[in-house]
Amino acid sequence: MAKHKILIIGFGTVGQGFYELFHEKQVSIGLEDTVVSEVIDAKFGFIKNFGPDIITQLKGGKTFEKADVFKTIRNSEADIVCEFTWVNIKDGEPAFSHIEEALSAGKHVITTNKGPIALRYERLHELAAESKLKLRFKGTVMSGTPSFNILELLPGIHVQKVRGIFNGTSNFILTEMAHGKSFDEVLRLAQSMGYAEADPTLDVDGFDAALKAVIFSKVIGWTKHDLNSMDIKGIRDISSSDASAGVKLLASMDSESASVKPVHLSPDDLFSNINGVMNAAEITTDTLGKIFVAGPGAGRKETAQAVLSDLVEVINN
Ligand code: HSE
Repeated sequence: MAKHKILIIGFGTVGQGFYELFHEKQVSIGLEDTVVSEVIDAKFGFIKNFGPDIITQLKGGKTFEKADVFKTIRNSEADIVCEFTWVNIKDGEPAFSHIEEALSAGKHVITTNKGPIALRYERLHELAAESKLKLRFKGTVMSGTPSFNILELLPGIHVQKVRGIFNGTSNFILTEMAHGKSFDEVLRLAQSMGYAEADPTLDVDGFDAALKAVIFSKVIGWTKHDLNSMDIKGIRDISSSDASAGVKLLASMDSESASVKPVHLSPDDLFSNINGVMNAAEITTDTLGKIFVAGPGAGRKETAQAVLSDLVEVINN
């Protein structure tokens, strides 16, 4: 009998990437007795009792009967729900309701979906806390690269300011534009590599980075920031010569204000060396001064690593 069961909602790039990485690493992380028991996806339907070749079957065109997501969550034997549906920056739906339903049904939740966490974090955090359940969302900021979660290692630390390159797609586009490629050409490449959102305007117009700035801020306790109050500008108007001269899309937050905008960086700024799909965060603190973390900010396996980190935390702590 499996000790822990996982229901995956949304079986696209992130869901399949997590499924593959989980099976690759399951033994080395000591989760032999955890299983992915159910998957529900708008395109593929509801899948239960499947074999390890399920992704190959789906690639071959196999589909399953559709089912109601909310009934599936309520009736599921899983104790952990992974929510990987599309990002909606207007109201966070349908992911918000999926997460709310899962927490109400007594299940821990792991999500990589920025919409519900950035827009309605307080409600979900309260619901999880009331029910003594875990709500983990590491993959929402900088994929599997440590970001806000390093604060868990630093008890008592006081964060004064954060700067970050939080959108892999924009940073990739700017880097390639600096090497002479066109905006459209590189955006298509970013899409084919699985970096861009389903709606890539979220990436290039700065909203994705802004969602991440809001989430990082909420974890710190700077609750006043939201997409409406932030100054948000993307990279659409940036020329190749701006990109060559060191312009990067930078998020900046403190307790009072938050913004995302293209900034011209001096060559001695560490952020000027963050290229391609790399992301980075500079966290200014009272005890350590500046902490700088950098690594991949998007990608199938990279985001799957974030879910794996959250899964180990949910199960072992
Ligand atoms: N579209 C996002 C990015 C994916 O490019 O950073 C990771 O959140």
